[in-house]
Amino acid sequence: MSWWLHHPDHSVAVAPSLLAADFTNIQADITGMEEAGVDLLHLDVMDAHFVPNLTFGPFICAAIRRTTKLVLDAHLMMTHPHEYLEPFAKSGVDAITIHAEAESPLEETLDRIGELGCKRGISLNPGTELSAIEPVLDRVDLVLVMTVQPGFGGQSFDERGLGKMSALREWREKHGLSYGISVDGGVNDVTGAQCREAGADILVSGSWFCKADDRSRAAALLRGGS
Ligand code: DX5
Ligand code: ZN
Repeated sequence: MSWWLHHPDHSVAVAPSLLAADFTNIQADITGMEEAGVDLLHLDVMDAHFVPNLTFGPFICAAIRRTTKLVLDAHLMMTHPHEYLEPFAKSGVDAITIHAEAESPLEETLDRIGELGCKRGISLNPGTELSAIEPVLDRVDLVLVMTVQPGFGGQSFDERGLGKMSALREWREKHGLSYGISVDGGVNDVTGAQCREAGADILVSGSWFCKADDRSRAAALLRGGS
């Protein structure tokens, strides 16, 4: 079974972005997400340098770890992620995703993430071509296609990501690889369907999912059910 699926019968994983979660009672919010049938949780780490926003670091990731057994993916929107890998790994997250646009040496940083016992993720911004990550696709467990400019939740979906998802699927088959294809930014029931069709395995959704009155239904809609 794919490592990103908590529910073996799901063909597409739903990953709420906790950026839109209720941090006044994160334990209850995450328990509700588990009951809604989500597969993993997406943690948006912003350093106020790579993006013009600041969120949280390993200390909060460790607190979130204590609330759930779900797979945690730390999406590091940081200029120098390689300097912070140990504390994130120690916080107990399962996957660490870095950006192709960061100033860290990509191969070395991804290998180090693997040595620390975490799944290795690479992300690329809407304006970055796939060619920027092709050389490292044989050493990642996850590719996170950004469909908004990172930094803030609640933005509109950028359709340029769709072609990347299908190209990543083709590349994976052609080269016998097994990375998961994830999409992040502006994902809702409508854009989620486009992403599934384009070949995404994991749908990250912040505002749309977290604000839904019925999160079980929202998760089902993202997976293509009703
Ligand atoms: C944006 C973050 C996303 C964001 C998604 O910088 O990486 O994970 O929280 O939120 P929505 O779904 O609202 O676009
Ligand atoms: Zn994210």
